[in-house]
Amino acid sequence: MHLSRRNRILRLSPAIRAMVAETILKPSDFIAPLFIIEGSGIKEEIPSMQGYYRRSIDLTVQEVKELWAMGIKSVLLFIKCKDELKDNKGTEALNPNGLMQRSIRAIKDACPDMVVMTDVALDPFSTYGHDGIVDGDEIVNDPTVEVLAKMSVSHAQAGADIVAPSDMMDGRILAIREALEQNGLTKTGIMAYSAKYASCFYGPFRDALDSAPGFGDKKTYQMDYANRREALKEVLMDVEEGADIVMVKPAMAYLDIIREVRDNVDVPVSAYHVSGEYAMIKAAANMGWLDENKAIIESLTSIKRAGADLIATYFAKDAVKLING
Ligand code: PBG
Repeated sequence: MHLSRRNRILRLSPAIRAMVAETILKPSDFIAPLFIIEGSGIKEEIPSMQGYYRRSIDLTVQEVKELWAMGIKSVLLFIKCKDELKDNKGTEALNPNGLMQRSIRAIKDACPDMVVMTDVALDPFSTYGHDGIVDGDEIVNDPTVEVLAKMSVSHAQAGADIVAPSDMMDGRILAIREALEQNGLTKTGIMAYSAKYASCFYGPFRDALDSAPGFGDKKTYQMDYANRREALKEVLMDVEEGADIVMVKPAMAYLDIIREVRDNVDVPVSAYHVSGEYAMIKAAANMGWLDENKAIIESLTSIKRAGADLIATYFAKDAVKLING
């Protein structure tokens, strides 16, 4: 054979493959989600997320310092609210001394340079486990948006760098931006969960926070996974309304959406490699059916290759160890 091109030349050795690799993961690509609970000295494993934990504030602060030392620049905070503090109005979500607000302050005190992002949605605080206020069998939009805006202000006042509304109510990005402006919070960013699909892959997360919907599902606010054009509509509206970063969620079953979004906006795009995606890799690895480390790096590389500038992932720490490895 006399070939004019032999593509295998650029794959011949690890050195040449490294030279021509198009997508390289780095520690600052990752956002590390953290689950926080009341108490002290507590670190409990989440049964459906082996190797991932809920921690009290003191141990969360230690973890944040470790993440920072490894080169991870951002954490995304979720709290597990006590049952007796849940209601249908998000009262506890607005408590200036609530678990979220205390966590933000403790982390910013201990590690001021870490970019602290906070989840903004009512589900952890809701007796119904829904992201908004429930009226009859409806999750009502506009009253929910009012609470989300106040919640964002409360997080920002506690020191959050970026609020991350994950609720999928209409008009919340504009309302949050306006509320931040009205309160002089001009340095707080918004990472919008813009294309968030109604997905079965959130199951383990809902175990972690005990936040599964008590009735129905989330399909009247989260998107139908059959839809691609709708994702673009959501994302463009959020950018228009003031989002600094937009997100696609979940990640691996939605790589086409990540690419579509990356090609159509000029803000950073994040992707959330969600709890169920974590659990699948862990479970298969435990059975000896997948090489966990290889599965982690291949998955995260594919998400970045699809167009994600940032990746929220429970594998953040593992990935950094592997990259530096
Ligand atoms: C709640 C929220 C969810 C996740 C992030 N914020 C769950 C849901 O919408 O039911 C999922 C994260 C994950 O599965 O890792 N607003």
